[in-house]
Amino acid sequence: MAARYEVTASKYRPKTFDELAGQEFVVSTIKNSLLNGQIAHAYLFSGPRGCGKTSAARILARSLNCEKAPNGPCAGMDSNVCDNCRTISQGASMDVIEIDGASNNSVNDVRQIKDEVLFPPQSGKYKVYIIDEVHMLSASAFNALLKTIEEPPPYICFIFATTELHKVPATIKSRCQQFNFRLIPVETIQEILKKICAENNIKAEDDALFWIARESTGSMRDAFTLFDQVTSFSTSANGINIRSDLIREKLGIIGLEKLNALSLSCVENDGLRSFALADEILSSGIAIEQFVIDLTGYYRSLLLIKNGVTRESLLGFRPSQFCAKTLETLDSIRLEQALDILLDCYRNIRYSVSPRFDLETAISKLTWLTKWVSPIELKDSINAAKSILTRGGSLSPSSNPQSSEPRSVPEAPKAQVSGSGDGRSLTDEFQKMLAAKENTDDDDVPMWNNSAIKSGKENPPQVENVLSVIPGTVIQ
Ligand SMILES: Nc1ncnc2c1ncn2[C@@H]1O[C@H](COP(=O)(O)OP(=O)(O)OP(=O)(O)O)[C@@H](O)[C@H]1O
Ligand SMILES: [Mg+2]
Ligand SMILES: [Zn+2]
Repeated sequence: MAARYEVTASKYRPKTFDELAGQEFVVSTIKNSLLNGQIAHAYLFSGPRGCGKTSAARILARSLNCEKAPNGPCAGMDSNVCDNCRTISQGASMDVIEIDGASNNSVNDVRQIKDEVLFPPQSGKYKVYIIDEVHMLSASAFNALLKTIEEPPPYICFIFATTELHKVPATIKSRCQQFNFRLIPVETIQEILKKICAENNIKAEDDALFWIARESTGSMRDAFTLFDQVTSFSTSANGINIRSDLIREKLGIIGLEKLNALSLSCVENDGLRSFALADEILSSGIAIEQFVIDLTGYYRSLLLIKNGVTRESLLGFRPSQFCAKTLETLDSIRLEQALDILLDCYRNIRYSVSPRFDLETAISKLTWLTKWVSPIELKDSINAAKSILTRGGSLSPSSNPQSSEPRSVPEAPKAQVSGSGDGRSLTDEFQKMLAAKENTDDDDVPMWNNSAIKSGKENPPQVENVLSVIPGTVIQ
């Protein structure tokens, strides 16, 4: 009979503290307390899914009962392993009790624990209760636990694990030593996957393993699960060969080249090409949600690069792999706007008549992103215009550092603004406004300098100068 297939996550569950990746702080603290014999009554392990909480709880349980090592349990399952470690690993020990908090969450379940703790361990030094998903216990179950975890018999150790620390009452937290598990860095996950490939004669492109590591967003279990999925479709008669292009094809992921092409057509304001590219991507079987997620991730990476980030693990790719023209054309303000557009699009998709329409609208907005002006820029420009008006004298924007400030931002949209739309130009409107101001005695706007108004009235080009610093204005 063929050997039973074992998923990578359980095959590679860490058996010792040294194998627990990315949790150095937790590991060193627990190792120290084991060495010094400072064992707490209760531990609370919290952190994101699949980052080693249950594994660490089991390692700690074995360490407490191991007959050999003082600062960690025997490794592996060979003949050198002590009896206690072996039975605990096989799940056959009477001294280590694992309880799923999600399905044993009532006060009666806790009462049973309270009765059991009165009996000492059978073969080890400690009787260890590992309660997983502890946040699922009911309020009365938590209350029933309080006394037991505060003053248990000396041979009892509770290890609680949870992904939702905020749901654990403060009364429980304050009776436990707390350890926050962290997301595992992409590089660490990639290294572990590389090692597993080497051990199992699996060929894998670095980029492909990096992609798996990145997709798993810090969870080692997610990385192993995705790795198993990728391995299964990368298997051929010649063995296993994990390749990026195959992953893209099988899992419907947009490659960076396509995103670069799309962003380029957007900064070139080429709507036709942008829509054609989007259609091509969707026709290749990419789901709309995935499309929006990938495009959002792309613009996020551009924003990070614009702010000096170069770390590949944060960007997903090397900075040089992103479209140079897009990077050069869009500044942080417009990249933030791109992200706003796409994040909005993602939120709207759920309630949309047609998610495709939302995506196309977002792409359309991206094609005129270069012309978009932020409210802050508009405000700065209006302030600059005011400043020109109040100072009278020379109204040339180039001779005025403040008025030239808005010019430092990328080209503002040159939308045709023609007054009220009835043929009168904005300049006419402005002239009228100045005239009206001159005809009133009302001087309640101190920043309006009368001589400036006069000079503006007598000299229309100066008025045009003022208006020209306001983005979105074309003087007619
Ligand atoms: N820090 C780690 N180092 C190495 N492998 C890990 C690590 N964390 C998780 N794994 C892998 O992921 C699997 C699941 O880990 P574990 O059950 O310890 O996670 P967890 O934090 O308890 O997750 P959950 O919150 O979903 O219960 C392990 O079998 C192991 O293969
Ligand atoms: Mg767990
Ligand atoms: Zn042992």
